[in-house]
Amino acid sequence: MTTPPATRLGTPLGPPPATRPATGTTRPTTGTTGPATRPATRPATVWVTGASSGFGAAIVRRFAADGARVIASARRADRLATLAADLGAHVLPLTLDVRDQEAVRRAVRALPEDFADFDVLVNNAGLAKGLGPAHEADPDDWEQMLDTNCKGLLHCTQAALPGMVARGRGHVVNLGSVAGSYPYPGGNVYGATKAFVHQFSLNLRSDLHGTGVRVTCVEPGMCGGTEFSTVRFQGDREKADAVYAGMRPLSADDIAESVHWATSQPPHVNVNTIELMPVAQSFAAFQVHRHSA
Ligand SMILES: NC(=O)c1ccc[n+]([C@@H]2O[C@H](COP(=O)([O-])OP(=O)(O)OC[C@H]3O[C@@H](n4cnc5c(N)ncnc54)[C@H](OP(=O)(O)O)[C@@H]3O)[C@@H](O)[C@H]2O)c1
Repeated sequence: MTTPPATRLGTPLGPPPATRPATGTTRPTTGTTGPATRPATRPATVWVTGASSGFGAAIVRRFAADGARVIASARRADRLATLAADLGAHVLPLTLDVRDQEAVRRAVRALPEDFADFDVLVNNAGLAKGLGPAHEADPDDWEQMLDTNCKGLLHCTQAALPGMVARGRGHVVNLGSVAGSYPYPGGNVYGATKAFVHQFSLNLRSDLHGTGVRVTCVEPGMCGGTEFSTVRFQGDREKADAVYAGMRPLSADDIAESVHWATSQPPHVNVNTIELMPVAQSFAAFQVHRHSA
C-alpha cells in the first residue's frame, strides 16, 4: 500500500497559513483502498490538557505542525511558556489544574475569541502514583489519581461539550491505558481510573448520538521518554529508567500520531478505541499461588 501525499485542500502541504478559518475544514486525500476522494477532517483549534510534558507536549507539537491553533494547558506555567515560545502565537499557554472545576469553567469561558470554539479536546492530563499493593498504598496517592484522571477529565469534558454540541461538531479524545483493561500487580487504582476513562468514553458516545460530536479513547501500553514513571516513583529517576531498560517502548510521538489520525478521519467516521503497545510488551499467564509442600 502506498501512502498518499498529504494535501491541504488539494495543494501540497506547506507551512501553516498565517490565519486559519475558525471552523474545522476538510481536505481531499486519496488511498488505494478507499474511494478516490475521502474528505479528511482538519481540526482548526485543539485543546490539549497535560501539555507541559510527555504525550501532551508531543500532541501540541503535532497539531501545531499541521497549522492548528492549540490551547496548551497544565499546572507548570514555565514549561508551557517555553513550548509556546518555541511554536509561535498559534499556541496559547493556559495554566490550569484540571482538578479545580471552577477554574476549568472560568478558563474555558475566558478563552480569546480565536481559541474559544475549539474542535478537539484531548483529555491527556493524568498520572500514576505508586506501584505498591493496595494494602500498602498511600490514600493520598489514590485521591490524587481519582481527582486528576477521573474528575479532572470530567471537568474539562463538561466545560467543552455544550459548545461542541451547539456547533454540531467536535471531538473528545481521552487518554486511557492498557492498564484499564488488563490488571497488573500494583496497578490497583491507576488501572481502575483508566477503566473509568474507557467506559466513560463509550457512554459519552451514546449520549452524543446524533450531535455530530465524536469520542475516542486512546489506550497505550508502555511509553518511554515522558515523566510518567518519574512521577509514579516520586521523582526516583533510577527506578523510572529501570522500567524501560533493555526494551524499546512507545514514544510520545507515537501517541501524538494516533490522536492526530483519529481526529483526521472523515466526519462520518468515529474511532471508538485505539489500543497500542510496543512490540516488546505483551501478555503473560495468570499467577497462581500454590500451597507449600
Ligand atoms: N507513559 C505511559 O506509559 C502511559 C501509558 C498509558 C497511558 N498514559 C497516560 O497518558 C497521559 C500522559 O502521560 P505521560 O506519559 O505523557 O506523562 P507525563 O509526562 O507525566 O505528563 C503528564 C501531564 O499531565 C499533567 N498533569 C498532571 N496532573 C495535572 C493536573 N492536576 N492538572 C493539570 N495537568 C496535570 C502534567 O503537567 P503539570 O505537572 O505541569 O500539571 C503533565 O503535563 C496520562 O493520562 C497517563 O496516565 C501514559
